[in-house]
Amino acid sequence: MSSGKDRVVVLISGRGSNMAALVEASRAADYPAEVVAVISNKPDAAGLDYAAREGIATAVVPHKGFASREAFDAALDAEIRKYAPDFICLAGFMRLLTPGFSESWAGKLINIHPSLLPSFKGLDTHERALEAGVKLHGCTVHLVTPDLDSGPMVAQAAVPVLAGDTPESLGARVLKAEHKLYPAALALLVSGRARLVDGHVIIEQAADASAALFNPAL
Ligand code: GRF
Repeated sequence: MSSGKDRVVVLISGRGSNMAALVEASRAADYPAEVVAVISNKPDAAGLDYAAREGIATAVVPHKGFASREAFDAALDAEIRKYAPDFICLAGFMRLLTPGFSESWAGKLINIHPSLLPSFKGLDTHERALEAGVKLHGCTVHLVTPDLDSGPMVAQAAVPVLAGDTPESLGARVLKAEHKLYPAALALLVSGRARLVDGHVIIEQAADASAALFNPAL
């Protein structure tokens, strides 16, 4: 029987902690979406075991078997469509998607990136944030467009960069924020409170306009 919730397919390549955060959030009766399948391009992705234990359908589409990115994306697309999703969440999915794929899911394809975009697109974001000496770092949920890490931003969370931070300690602080931000941002999109207007995501209900995170604390 249908739950009446929007259907979400999550794409992973590894650990899957963000996928697990989405699954946990979606267990709440008042959460507007449910994770119906988890698909990985890597057969040994640890997140697949978690999803299976949670009773969620899993599938593997190994990228190695395909001659081109287009062929892989076509197979991935066919697998995804079996689950008739309303939204697709990328959660540590380490493959570049072709423009054809991202355009065909425009507005429905979401990613979480471990930096405050547009700073630090791409890989090794925590190392690069430390190198740059920023005092605030964080994560961004955005809609996926053909340009890497450049689609309209839905929500962001900032964390302080502390003296003595390593990429690992900073990454762990960001990851904790990711686990809260991703389910919240997905809910905003699913419920229609976040809407795409002229290339920017507009959110109906503004957050506390006086809230600010200072680092160092004032
Ligand atoms: C997260 O930091 C996410 O922002 C990035 O890849 C990492 C995936 O971690 N895209 P996990 O697999 O969700 O634990």
